[in-house]
Amino acid sequence: MSTIPDPLTPLVCILNGPNLNLLGAREPEIYGARTLADIETDCTAHAAKLGLRTDFRQSNHEGALVDWLHEAGATAVAAIINAGAYSHTSIALHDAIKSIPIPVIEMHLSNIHAREAFREQSLTARAATAVICGFGADGYLLALDAAKRLTQKVRNQ
Ligand code: DQA
Repeated sequence: MSTIPDPLTPLVCILNGPNLNLLGAREPEIYGARTLADIETDCTAHAAKLGLRTDFRQSNHEGALVDWLHEAGATAVAAIINAGAYSHTSIALHDAIKSIPIPVIEMHLSNIHAREAFREQSLTARAATAVICGFGADGYLLALDAAKRLTQKVRNQ
């Protein structure tokens, strides 16, 4: 039986950008076989174990992601964003990440540094608190672990 998280449980917004609605079918040799719905289910369960709740969204539209980052800044303790190709192009998303007072973890399923040269630069990573890439769908769960640690300030430095 699934339980509905208490609204007082700290919220982590997980935002997904363009083409990620096609996960599972889209270049599975790069992005894996799991669909975005599978990943959302895994995130919900993992967040519950960490004492967090999630709001998991996807849009193909840059402005929607900007709006959702602003919303996350007002409602969540942290945000996780896989901005897809907008990571490499969007100054608007870079500025939106800079504009909000919560840690933002950028994640990519693939290792963007081991692919085409145009994926090497991430404008959003320059604004993000931390970046996780190359772990496939597990990267979302690692990002949730990181959100927990960042919001608890459990850091060994
Ligand atoms: C991606 C990497 C991006 O370069 C690409 O445009 C995507 C997915 C990833 O998760 O590996 O859409 O963000």
